[in-house]
Amino acid sequence: MAKLIALVPLLALAQYASAAVPVWGQCMRASGTHCVYFNDYYSQCQPGGATTPPPPTTTTPGNPGGTNPPASGTLNGRITAKGKKYFGSCADPGTLNKSTNVGRLKSDFGCVTPENSMKWDAVEPSRGGFNYGNADTLVNWATSNGKMIRGHTLVWHSQLPSWVSSIGDSATLTSVINNHISNVAGRFKGKLYGTCFDCYDWDVCNEILNEDGSYRSSVFYNVLGANFVKIAFQAAKNADGNAKLYINDYNLDSNNAKVQGIIRVVNSVNTGGTRLIDGIGTQMHLSTGGAGGVQSALTALAGTGLEVAITELDIANASPNDYTTVVKACLAVSNCIGITTWGVADVDSWRASTNPLLYDNNYNPKPAYTAVIQAMA
Ligand code: XIL
Repeated sequence: MAKLIALVPLLALAQYASAAVPVWGQCMRASGTHCVYFNDYYSQCQPGGATTPPPPTTTTPGNPGGTNPPASGTLNGRITAKGKKYFGSCADPGTLNKSTNVGRLKSDFGCVTPENSMKWDAVEPSRGGFNYGNADTLVNWATSNGKMIRGHTLVWHSQLPSWVSSIGDSATLTSVINNHISNVAGRFKGKLYGTCFDCYDWDVCNEILNEDGSYRSSVFYNVLGANFVKIAFQAAKNADGNAKLYINDYNLDSNNAKVQGIIRVVNSVNTGGTRLIDGIGTQMHLSTGGAGGVQSALTALAGTGLEVAITELDIANASPNDYTTVVKACLAVSNCIGITTWGVADVDSWRASTNPLLYDNNYNPKPAYTAVIQAMA
């Protein structure tokens, strides 16, 4: 993981504008709409009419009515048949330009996370100068292909322009955070596609803790103290009240001090009946053989009562056993709502030299892919 840490710094179809809450989203959110039942996991708010009652029982798996893969034989189909929301991958214009990669994304995955295009250096390289070219390309691709989107990421010490990291006073930094989040989360607000619900998440704060559970030194913590977390989540809530707001980090791979630290942060922010943090993302950039503690980590994180997601999974050498250990852990923890691998194929991975993904350099499924499909049977 030390190597990984060193790498990091290198590192709607229609929304009714007049409605206070989205139509085509989860039921009972907008007035003047009716609820159309699809399956046990999902009902949708559509304009006008009377509510369609659910049938007495249903076994319909997968993503109802969408363009996602069918229930059998694909990553997203299998995991949604198990009651989870998605099996996703990161993507961005660079990988969306590769036709074989896009074919795999379309057929096998139900959700995309922008790998780099929504990071601070990409969207606000100069103060108040917003640039959404690549982020828009990703979002447009996702919405036109019926994929969920996980927004990534609003406040992160890495891939942060120097004009932000050099701010030294709290009033300026607070105003800069508020402006950044209201612009970025505001731009993508309500970019829901027709047949999903709660399908737009934001990693609001990314990698804010040290391995011992204390706060990482960053411009945000150094200038504002722990209060920056509340400032960021409140700004995100103001900008997009329907998005699920996540805290996301790495090395949350066993029930360790960092997991306990995340739980403390969640409990300190979600106090007094206020819920600003909706979910906890565990990146899971694992080493070979590093999956043994995953279920205990997920269980501990789920103990907060929040949903939990595996947000950036890749495993050095991609042993089938390591991958199935992770997937089975998510299946076993009801609050674990989905899994995202950090890419489709090894050739496009940020850890390409370790061959950590489910597809090989030629975009062919690897043994771990078959094992994962079987683990979700
Ligand atoms: C990585 C990208 O995959 C690389 O292309 C980029 O050069 C550096 O960032 N944790 C995160 C992700 O939250 O955003 C990082 O993505 C990987 C580690």
